[in-house]
Amino acid sequence: MLPALLAAVLSIMIYLITTLSRRGPSFVPEDIPDLSDKTILITGGNSGIGYQTAKELLLKGATVYLSARSRKKAAEAIEKLERETKRTAKFLELDLADLRSVRGAATEFLKQESSLNVFFNNGKVGHSFGIDYG
Ligand SMILES: NC(=O)c1ccc[n+]([C@@H]2O[C@H](COP(=O)([O-])OP(=O)(O)OC[C@H]3O[C@@H](n4cnc5c(N)ncnc54)[C@H](OP(=O)(O)O)[C@@H]3O)[C@@H](O)[C@H]2O)c1
Repeated sequence: MLPALLAAVLSIMIYLITTLSRRGPSFVPEDIPDLSDKTILITGGNSGIGYQTAKELLLKGATVYLSARSRKKAAEAIEKLERETKRTAKFLELDLADLRSVRGAATEFLKQESSLNVFFNNGKVGHSFGIDYG
């Protein structure tokens, strides 16, 4: 009786472990709907998470504003995005740690757009106890 019970418990555990470890994310980039009527601003868009976000949103047709402090790094990122998506992100110079820069970027954005649909505030703004935070 006991060996049969142990075998049953073991089988259930093996089934759960193999099933759960096979499960991928429930929402993947292919699930993003068409965004061709959306304007999206991503801070810190020239690398890492911001870059990948810009890429997926460009592929879905969004108008993407990529902001960062470094014009040079942003230009390189925009060129790479063009190769990968055949679409062009717009650069907005912005230092989140400087409120004059934030106001300047907002003014520049409003010269070009009348509305903003999505704001990804992803850029890093400093260090705390050796850990970067955004
Ligand atoms: N990667 C992770 O595992 C992880 C984990 C937890 C949280 N996060 C957070 O997720 C966000 C993205 O992380 P990541 O790893 O993709 O970062 P990353 O590759 O280092 O990119 C950071 C981005 O932020 C920009 N940036 C830095 N300082 C800025 C400032 N003062 N104003 C405006 N933009 C600024 C950088 O461009 P410039 O230097 O040209 O400005 C760059 O585009 C960050 O906020 C980070 O704290 C990341």
